[in-house]
Amino acid sequence: MTATDRPLVVGTGIAGLWTAWRLASEGHRVLLVTKATLQDSNTAWAQGGIAVAMDAGDSPALHAADTIAASDGLADPTAVEVLVTEGPARVRELLELGAAFDRGPDGELRFGLEAAHSRPRILHAEGDRTGAALVEALSRVVLADRRIEVLERTQVRRLVRHRERVVGAILLDEGGEPFAVSAPAVVLATGGVGQLFEVTTNPPVATGDGWALAHAVGAELSHLEFLQFHPTALRIAGVNPAPLLTEALRGKGAWLVDARGERFMLALDPRGELAPRDVVARAVAIRAFRGDVWLDARHLADVEAAFPGVTALLASHGLSLARDLIPVAPAMHYAMGGIRTDLAGRSTVAGLYAVGECAHTGVHGANRLASNSLLEGLVFADRAGREIVADLAEIPRPPASLSPAATDLDAGADQLPEALALLARMRSILTREAGVVRTEPGLAEAEIALADLLARAPSGAWRTADQLRVAALVARAARGRRESRGGHRRADFPNPKPRRAE
Ligand code: FUM
Repeated sequence: MTATDRPLVVGTGIAGLWTAWRLASEGHRVLLVTKATLQDSNTAWAQGGIAVAMDAGDSPALHAADTIAASDGLADPTAVEVLVTEGPARVRELLELGAAFDRGPDGELRFGLEAAHSRPRILHAEGDRTGAALVEALSRVVLADRRIEVLERTQVRRLVRHRERVVGAILLDEGGEPFAVSAPAVVLATGGVGQLFEVTTNPPVATGDGWALAHAVGAELSHLEFLQFHPTALRIAGVNPAPLLTEALRGKGAWLVDARGERFMLALDPRGELAPRDVVARAVAIRAFRGDVWLDARHLADVEAAFPGVTALLASHGLSLARDLIPVAPAMHYAMGGIRTDLAGRSTVAGLYAVGECAHTGVHGANRLASNSLLEGLVFADRAGREIVADLAEIPRPPASLSPAATDLDAGADQLPEALALLARMRSILTREAGVVRTEPGLAEAEIALADLLARAPSGAWRTADQLRVAALVARAARGRRESRGGHRRADFPNPKPRRAE
């Protein structure tokens, strides 16, 4: 058994790595755990870059206006203000820590364009390897810092709440052996929920763990119905996670075309292929269902050199950006809602913080502006880290007596065929009923079916049960919002309701 009085950070995407580094840079020891390795996170797979108002002629006010417009009326203006005004300082720190963003021939940072940005504002690294390059840079920093202990292949079995506070967690080591850690603060940075759907751009680790953990200790989750489907994942039956064809391709001028080779987005939105993601995803979904939508980048000069990651992944499927029309379909990509936090990452339960995709800070509203998520991860992780440092002196010492229960032992029940079958069923239900377009009868049926699956989860299959609970929360949230807004589209309530504070 291990006890610690260090803050515990769970997850090693940009938000988890940055929180750990911020705590350490303020002189604190930290325990940083990931259930897989440092290379496994949504961040590590990010092709699109990091949106930040640093270019000449750009400003935080312009970035805020684009973020709020994309959010379909639901972004929290205060959170957005924090994001866009603190973003440039965080990116400068990233540069100082060794992140190498792409530069032009003049040596200046090069800013790209993505959908619904009014100007080029996106930094990339190694073309379309931004996330991997960032994780490499931050992992180097974290691993070199002796104040940070990193445990890979270590999973959080459950959080421990003592009276009003989260005071630690029960972790499972690589062999499934449980051990307890007490912690003055637990920071969830567990990423997204894409794996709850049949087709996703998210890596296998994105199973909504943070939502399940937070929900189990009574923390509030909000806006779970707002899920973003990326319009251009590679459409090849049976390939999942679905390789992403970054929006930066459309930013460079790639087209979406139908069976006749005609661009269809311009007739739907004056911004064409660079309309907000929810608009493009719905248009692509309709055509993908009929099997006739493609990304056409053949007219772009040097496109393969500019997108080496996409080029390599297409080559593995015998396709080429320069030569072929690329079949695309929407895929579950990003969760706008999550564990409700304040502007310092505090959840509604003392001692529990959330940062990155698993958190709901309010910056994305109903639809996230492309490439705002890495920035959100940085900015709010930084704030959470500083807040924890400020609070540490005040935090009551955790009880010394945390220990695992017999039921925490991991006997591998999640690998049983019946557990795997339940998850396959769950993915099918969520994809059909809580996907790009939803309806009341479909969601009502989904809620009943998911409850039934949960009741049938094999004893000890806690990962399976957690995913089923999270799926049910998503279905319930989608059913509860009787309007269409941003990433939440109800066929039976096609219009947005007049806005009220949420
Ligand atoms: O298309 C992309 O590269 C995705 C960017 C994002 O999700 O922000």
